[in-house]
Amino acid sequence: MPGVSRSFRHSACSPESTVGMVCRSRGMEIVGQARIAKLTMPKHVEGIDLPRLEDLRPAVIGLGYVGLPLAIALGGTGPTIGFDLSTDRVGELRAGRDTTGEISEPRLSEARKQPLRLTDRPEKLAAANCYILTVPTPIDAHKRPDLSPLLGACRVVGEAMSPGDLVVIESTVYPGATEEDCVPVLEHASGLRLNRDFWVGYSPERTNPGDREHRLQNVVKVTSGSTPEAADLVDALYRQIITAGTHRAPSIRVAEAAKVIENTQRDLNIALVNELAIIFDRLELDTEAVLQAAGTKWNFLPFRPGLVGGHCIGVDPYYLTHKAREAGHEPEVILAGRRLNDRMGTWCAARLVKAMLASGRDVAAARILVLGLTFKENCPDLRNTGVMGLLEELKDYCLDVDVHDPQADPRAAQTECGVDLVAHPATGLYDAVIMAVAHDAFRALGPDRLRAFGKPDALIYDLKGLLPPEMSDLRL
Ligand SMILES: NC(=O)c1ccc[n+]([C@@H]2O[C@H](COP(=O)([O-])OP(=O)(O)OC[C@H]3O[C@@H](n4cnc5c(N)ncnc54)[C@H](O)[C@@H]3O)[C@@H](O)[C@H]2O)c1
Repeated sequence: MPGVSRSFRHSACSPESTVGMVCRSRGMEIVGQARIAKLTMPKHVEGIDLPRLEDLRPAVIGLGYVGLPLAIALGGTGPTIGFDLSTDRVGELRAGRDTTGEISEPRLSEARKQPLRLTDRPEKLAAANCYILTVPTPIDAHKRPDLSPLLGACRVVGEAMSPGDLVVIESTVYPGATEEDCVPVLEHASGLRLNRDFWVGYSPERTNPGDREHRLQNVVKVTSGSTPEAADLVDALYRQIITAGTHRAPSIRVAEAAKVIENTQRDLNIALVNELAIIFDRLELDTEAVLQAAGTKWNFLPFRPGLVGGHCIGVDPYYLTHKAREAGHEPEVILAGRRLNDRMGTWCAARLVKAMLASGRDVAAARILVLGLTFKENCPDLRNTGVMGLLEELKDYCLDVDVHDPQADPRAAQTECGVDLVAHPATGLYDAVIMAVAHDAFRALGPDRLRAFGKPDALIYDLKGLLPPEMSDLRL
């Protein structure tokens, strides 16, 4: 297709529907036959340019906590594809239900009126020219980065790509992953070359599930690109939807590093206060009282102790430590913080059992209620929840434990955590009650009703400051 200019290509694209877009400048109709089109498409087009902002047709790959709000926001600016390889996920969204709880039913049905097409069919992706990857980046059993979902998504995108396309990674990765790991897969799958035939960018996501205040639009977004022009385009793309504005990082690696240290810093700060909580427990000092006193200094950071879990704070530091080791540095502080935070559930369980024994309770016959299972408050996400460390340790003590969580999906709790949630815990039944997650629903019950789950002399262990100090026996 030599000599075909980028603007011709775009002027020849008819955007009647995002998915049904017909792109004649590619020398063929691509609707429903992307794979066939791929085989006949020239790999390199002389003089190919980046698309103009107004010609971008984004596809968001991975419609989870990060991808769905992004796809909806972009759908508000023009034709957008939302792609997820999970047929179930696409099905529930088409049915108007978002089980992540990030998008309400009315908002989702309103969004469906936008030019936003949801699909689980990879062949539909050829109609896009800008691919934004928001797929999971977990760790494996040995706490090493597992890039397989991201590289799998790169393969799917590579097969759909055409000369002149832009690929933006949003998933959290280590510095270098976009250019060293993703680009080779994109090049191999597409037959195209970076910065000649296509461009990449990295723009980390800062979403905070369950947080109604810090949303996609009102949090500054870091952007970057593989060339200054690509960085401009990535930045302009996000400026359309981010009212708080953007921060253009000088390189993709800087943007990648910025994201991974945000969560590493948080993990370490929590590890420090968790360690302080352990020390103050031995010194018989109330940690919250100490933190409140110290917090009167202008530069004392207001972190609180707790169980650390989830797929960001408990995972992202390992992406950084992996890269550090590759670069010849054995990280000490970061991994020490991780170890301490990972052990907090075990420590809390032991603390409870010691307190029960010290007060003469019959531990072997005791019934315990744990309030909260999700990895954080007001969110149904159970991935890597820190509460599991607590539950496993309580199980090791052979304690009889019930778990109640109005936010968690009972089926997911069973399949992901092996926990059968108790929908309506009986009042006055339990010998100890542990407040593990500070859901608003628990706060709404109020201290008296929370306490009332226990027997009149029950031991109350408040890990999250849900109760006034005088109403709990133990606090973290
Ligand atoms: N959730 C957060 O709080 C948060 C915040 C900032 C950054 N992040 C990062 O954003 C990324 C996505 O996180 P998330 O919480 O949205 O994940 P998620 O699990 O909620 O959603 C990911 C979606 O991607 C789909 N998917 C997986 N592999 C795919 C593939 N190859 N092609 C297409 N779809 C695929 C899954 O079916 C799922 O629906 C991760 O790197 C995460 O670390 C998450």
